[in-house]
Amino acid sequence: MKRPPLLLCLLCLFGSPATADTSPPGHALASAHPAATKAGLEVLNDGGNAFDAAIAVSAVLGVVEPYGSGLGGGGFFLLHDSARNYTTMLDARERAPLAAHRDLYLDADGNVDRDRALNGPLAAGIPGIAAAWGHLAKHYGQLPLTRTLEPAIRHARDGVPLNPKLERAMTARAEAFLRYPASSIFAPDSPALSSGKRVVQTDLASTLNLLAEQGAQAFYRGSLAETLVAEVRDNGGIWSRQDLEQYRVVEREPITIQWRDAEIVTVAPPSATGVMLAQIFHMLGDDWLDGSDRDDRTHRLIEALRRAYLERARHLGDPDYVDVPLQRLTSMEYARKLMEDFDPERATRSNSLYAAEPEVGHTTHFSILDRDGNWVSATLSINGLFGSGFVVPGTGVLLNNEMDDFSAKPGAPNLYGLVGSEANAIAPGKRMLSSMAPTAVYHANTLALLGTPGGSRITTMVMQGILQFLQGAGAESLVTSPRLHHQALPDKVFTEPDMVVDRERLEAKGHIFEVTEPWGNMQVVVWNTHEVRLDAASDPRGIGSAKVEALYASD
Ligand code: GLY
Repeated sequence: MKRPPLLLCLLCLFGSPATADTSPPGHALASAHPAATKAGLEVLNDGGNAFDAAIAVSAVLGVVEPYGSGLGGGGFFLLHDSARNYTTMLDARERAPLAAHRDLYLDADGNVDRDRALNGPLAAGIPGIAAAWGHLAKHYGQLPLTRTLEPAIRHARDGVPLNPKLERAMTARAEAFLRYPASSIFAPDSPALSSGKRVVQTDLASTLNLLAEQGAQAFYRGSLAETLVAEVRDNGGIWSRQDLEQYRVVEREPITIQWRDAEIVTVAPPSATGVMLAQIFHMLGDDWLDGSDRDDRTHRLIEALRRAYLERARHLGDPDYVDVPLQRLTSMEYARKLMEDFDPERATRSNSLYAAEPEVGHTTHFSILDRDGNWVSATLSINGLFGSGFVVPGTGVLLNNEMDDFSAKPGAPNLYGLVGSEANAIAPGKRMLSSMAPTAVYHANTLALLGTPGGSRITTMVMQGILQFLQGAGAESLVTSPRLHHQALPDKVFTEPDMVVDRERLEAKGHIFEVTEPWGNMQVVVWNTHEVRLDAASDPRGIGSAKVEALYASD
């Protein structure tokens, strides 16, 4: 089929209903950084599809948002191949090194050593991003890695201009960068920075170039892999050559939730969020949206969140290592049991000795829809801000600190204040439990692609985004609306300053409120097949950008 010429249009596009068919009237992309959005659109306009664009966008994000994701990390890609009508979850989550064991981060007194769990190469799981690029390029894409990685190589070589977000992140992790000479490229007082006001990542450019030329497997075998292992071990880590050689991405069946007249397609374990969303929606019940009393609905919502987060802690872990009875945990009958002690007048208590104030994560998300109806919703991470803070010398690869997503000791809270049990204990080769939740929702002839960073708050942000979409909100509303969060422990309702709730009434039921700084960085694409309309929006809490490009026939 002859492709129509391109006509650019910003953020919103209306096509003629007469041209409505099963293909979108253009393509749309939202990501956490304008350079990544631009790179993705260029790839789409260069004959690439959504999967090629996903490689380009994720590679650029790893360079321009080095605090959030990258080659040294992992993530989940939810993919839809429209020609095959096939949707899958590409699991590129990090794995524990084979030498890891359940007490890896316990000190002599049996307490979790938070420094070892968060800083330096001992905190790093085996990265999955390079393997994901290889898999996407081989099985889904149309362009070679030399094309899709080119923008990331260019940005790494030429340098990333400073912005307030990057500067704040660098300052926050300055202490960790002091420990490792190769990490000084991110130190706030690095000479390179003070002269040019750009973060130049020359070694990373060479590494990306190697992957473009030799294929993504060059990350896992050969001289680069040998350097990664040697440097990790020299600096206190436990990686081996086998760890890299054995790493594989996994295609998993997504979790599909039917709620009212919507179909929600989202992540399966080792992310917890899909199971939790199924539980939350079933606990709310089909008539929740019809309730007329906003505070009664909020009370039920908080109680559903509390129970879902306690379920996460009890049951969820890597499905390749622990039995996760998905059918049972996501069933309506199970949700009814969870709500048996629900009291419409009183808050339940989460009751635990352990509680920590949750931090917001430093992950990234993008959503892409191409003109053929292929789409990608992807959430990628190196866990904490700038991951482990350890840049592998000679490679430019900044390693994750995703090992902290394991439960280092049953009941002890991690970076996000999340507690866990045996199901998420550390074991050799196991994937750590995640909250990341790239999601797609089909409702009333409309598809929404959404997701966000935010650690443990990802689940509640995605859930609120879905609820808003089902009430008719567009892309812009989804990313701007104020947010609420409750994760069982600590037993508090966190709200953004603009969130409207009748605090007094809910406090009278026993809820404890805390207003905090805004959180999240949601990236949304919406395709209305009925109106032949595309929308995209990027969260104003971040610095990202969203674009819709219209394609019209020339005659
Ligand atoms: N590292 C954050 C998460 O995977 O949930």
